[in-house]
Amino acid sequence: MAEAVTKPTEATCLVEAASRLDDTWSPRVAGRVNDVVVKVARIEGEFVWHDHPATDEAFLVLSGRLRLQVREGAPQQERTIDMGPGDFFVVPRGVEHCPTAEPGTTIALIEAAGTVNTGAAGGSLTAPVDQQL
Ligand code: NI
Repeated sequence: MAEAVTKPTEATCLVEAASRLDDTWSPRVAGRVNDVVVKVARIEGEFVWHDHPATDEAFLVLSGRLRLQVREGAPQQERTIDMGPGDFFVVPRGVEHCPTAEPGTTIALIEAAGTVNTGAAGGSLTAPVDQQL
């Protein structure tokens, strides 16, 4: 069975597309590159701690400020990556993380298609998977 492939017919301004989203913490797919999707999201406040066992997840801040907490190492230690526009960080697969953002923050996410935003944590912030813009 062939998988759906999204091919934009014109350039997408990720900053604009993200800022127009109605809901926070509800990523939308801007495009697919092989088995990876590039999503945009508007985010605000604290998300939930979660991990993605099967995929790395890259964050690129488009506007605002993102504080990305991660738990890593043995024994596990928490650290915070403080990110502004243009900042890029990859959370490796299996690493627990929790984003917190100030109002007006937008991001791009780059991760495997089919990734659930809350991982196995679930809860009310779980968004539909791979929704198109
Ligand atoms: Ni995540």
